Amino acid sequence: MKTVKTISEVRAFVDEKRRAGNRIGFVPTMGFLHEGHASLMKAAKAKCDVVIVSIFVNPTQFGPGEDLETYPRDLVRDQNTCEAVGVDLIFAPEASEMYPEGYSTYVDCEGEITKQLCGASRPTHFKGVTSVVAKLFNIVQPDFAFFGQKDAQQIAVIEKMVRDLNMTVKIVPCPIVRESDGLAMSSRNTYLSDEQRKEALVLSQSLEIAKNKIQNGERDANKIKSAIMDHIQSSPLAEIDYVSLVNVKTLLPLVVIEDEFLIALAVKFGKTRLIDNYRGQVSLS
Ligand code: PAF
Repeated sequence: MKTVKTISEVRAFVDEKRRAGNRIGFVPTMGFLHEGHASLMKAAKAKCDVVIVSIFVNPTQFGPGEDLETYPRDLVRDQNTCEAVGVDLIFAPEASEMYPEGYSTYVDCEGEITKQLCGASRPTHFKGVTSVVAKLFNIVQPDFAFFGQKDAQQIAVIEKMVRDLNMTVKIVPCPIVRESDGLAMSSRNTYLSDEQRKEALVLSQSLEIAKNKIQNGERDANKIKSAIMDHIQSSPLAEIDYVSLVNVKTLLPLVVIEDEFLIALAVKFGKTRLIDNYRGQVSLS
């Protein structure tokens, strides 16, 4: 496995692999890899001949006052994780490689899809994500790109960008990976104190409550939302950013649970903002 820092090295690697007829799988990450990322790499290995992982803490997707400087980084540990899964190439550029002086081009997916949910409290976030992911797709030119379903809105936005810009890459959403007690894996979990870590379980627990209600026939989105909020508010350390029940593709709010829906949550514990979601389907009545 090689680690490279420049776009030209990635291009040379991809050219050679493509000439040999290989199918390229790509896993974009911001590093500090955990089992959730490893599951994306394994899915990529299963579907593709060559797997490329990018590790880049993308400054343009962090807003003012967010955790860009403190975002956890450990390239050596990440290299070991990638090696163990059988990744072929890591692309770990410096910010100056991705955004050289004078850089001024962005990809912005307009409309409700980026304004709802995380977009409401992070108004510039998705512009940064789509810009860097579009750049990475242009650099790596993958056949398939693998993303974790924990970032459900990110997947919906990237899928829309791919459709709108006629990109040829196929997006492969992969299931959320959880700790044994239910907490969705995230590089940001390392910020939590012991007490916050215990109370953070209200996210996955409240989604279970919602899931049970829906399985028992509840379809009123407001009632389900109230049950979720009540459970989260039972934790004195939790501060709700949003609880939303939305259509999976448009991310527009639902009054009645129908067809393919997404229940998405963002909750702060101190300065740490955690997200989680449940994606389900009910038959149309
Ligand atoms: O999900 C992430 O880690 C990032 O948003 C991504 C897709 C790597 C873009 O920086």
